[in-house]
Amino acid sequence: MLNLILLGPPGAGKGSQAKSLAARYGISQISTGDILRVAVRDKTPLGIKVRSFMDKGALVPDNLVVEIVAERLTMDDCKTGFILDGFPRNITQAEVVEKMLGGLGEKIDKVINIEVSHKEIVKRLSGRRVCRNCGEGYHIIFNPSIEDKICDKCKGEIYQRDDDKEDTIEDRLKVYEGQTSPLTDFYKKKGLLVAIGGVGGFKEITEKIVNAIESR
Ligand code: AP5
Repeated sequence: MLNLILLGPPGAGKGSQAKSLAARYGISQISTGDILRVAVRDKTPLGIKVRSFMDKGALVPDNLVVEIVAERLTMDDCKTGFILDGFPRNITQAEVVEKMLGGLGEKIDKVINIEVSHKEIVKRLSGRRVCRNCGEGYHIIFNPSIEDKICDKCKGEIYQRDDDKEDTIEDRLKVYEGQTSPLTDFYKKKGLLVAIGGVGGFKEITEKIVNAIESR
């Protein structure tokens, strides 16, 4: 049983690292961003409610994301553990998840904070492209698809997330500084926080995270 939280600014590599760690430890990745994007794509009632918040880089109201996480945590695939990726995003959400887990007789084992500079984030996110069908990630310079705008894996259409436009990236970074970054102190006080430098080779960063997890 291993329960983790991945913290870090937009573009820090939370989603990419969470996928790799989930496979390595046989636990589930819970990405509120991915769940919300699918809801927007499918125009579900939730998707219709949250779209305007996401497009402008604002946080979706707490009650909506808390409901998603509460439902997800009780699913069978979380019985061996989970990685929360993109949740919590403010102190209220952090307090709610603590209570939620307490009610299930569980707790967070470690909080990994991936640190990346503002300049690097803008470079990563402004060039990021994603497959609309399977979610595979690309970068126009560092990791382009073989055929223009076509996913190498599933031949789906590759697009740019609306919130990856440069102005919105700046707005997301402001939201991160104002609302999410206080979580580092919150978890430091609880003795759960480990800071990891998020610049360098992908595997090298995974290994740093694995060392932090296994040194508990
Ligand atoms: P969400 O999807 O969570 O977006 P985010 O936190 O802004 O994170 P990203 O997906 O942009 O980045 P990441 O850190 O996962 O990095 P990634 O691995 O993709 O949230 C989107 C929106 O949903 C929010 O703005 C909000 O509206 C809403 N939302 C979600 N959760 C919410 C919540 N709890 N409460 C309220 N609202 C919520 O990597 C980024 C790029 O960098 C990729 O191109 C990748 O290939 C590249 N990369 C990764 N690692 C490296 C490396 N080592 N070197 C070079 N490039 C790298």
